[in-house]
Amino acid sequence: MSTTSSGPDKKRVGILISGRGSNMVSLIEAARAGDYPAEIVCVISNRPEAAGLARAEALGIPTQAIDHKAFASREAFEVELDRALRGHGVEIVACAGFMRKMTAGFVEGWRDAMINIHPSLLPSYKGLHTHARALEDGVKIAGCTVHFVRPELDSGPIIAQVAVPVLDGDSEDSLAARILEAEHRLYPHALAMVASGAAKVEGDRVAYRQFQINQMNSLYWPPLS
Ligand code: GAR
Repeated sequence: MSTTSSGPDKKRVGILISGRGSNMVSLIEAARAGDYPAEIVCVISNRPEAAGLARAEALGIPTQAIDHKAFASREAFEVELDRALRGHGVEIVACAGFMRKMTAGFVEGWRDAMINIHPSLLPSYKGLHTHARALEDGVKIAGCTVHFVRPELDSGPIIAQVAVPVLDGDSEDSLAARILEAEHRLYPHALAMVASGAAKVEGDRVAYRQFQINQMNSLYWPPLS
C-alpha cells in the first residue's frame, strides 16, 4: 500500500463549492489516505466569500474564486470555470454544495466525469428546501444521494445513497444535520468507487464492479419491535 497521497494512479479531482464546504473537507480528508484512488487538486468557488475556500487553503489545497457575477453570461462564466479545471488537469469534477445552475453544454463537456451530492433520496425532492419539504410531507425516511450530473436539475445516474430516519420533533436544522453526517461518509465512498472504476455509467444507470458485501441491513423506521 502506498503511503503518499498523490501518485500516477490517482484520478485528479477538482471540487466545486459555493459555501461552507463541509462535504469538500470530507473529500479532502479521505483523499489523504495513501490507498484512496483520487487526489484533490483544486477547489473552485463561484462565490469569493465562500467559507470553504479558507478551509481548503488551510488543508493545503490550491483554491480559486471565479465570481459568476463578474461575467456577462452563464456561458462566459463556465468557459472560465472549464479553463481553470482543465488547467489543473482535472479528470473528475465533484460538486459539493455548488449552488449554480449549469448549462447543458458545460455539463456535457464533463459527461460521466462530474458528480454531485444532493440531500435527498433522489428522484424525490430535487431542488431547494429538501428537508423542509420532506418534513412537510411527513416522510419517515429521508437521506442523500451521490449521482453523475446530467443537464436536468438534480438528475443523472445514481452512484450511492444513504437512508436516514426522520425523528419525531425534527426541525429542518436537526434533519439537515443528521443527513449531513451521512453525506460526509457517503461522498468519499462514492468518489472512491468512481475514481477506481468500481462504479461506471452503463446506459442510463450506474453498474458496479463486483464488491464485497460486509453488511446489509435494511432500515426499518420506526424499528421492528
Ligand atoms: C449539502 O447538504 C449538499 O448536499 C447540498 O448543499 C449542502 C452543502 O453543504 N447540495 C445541494 O443541495 C445541491 N443541490 P457543504 O457546503 O457544507 O458541503
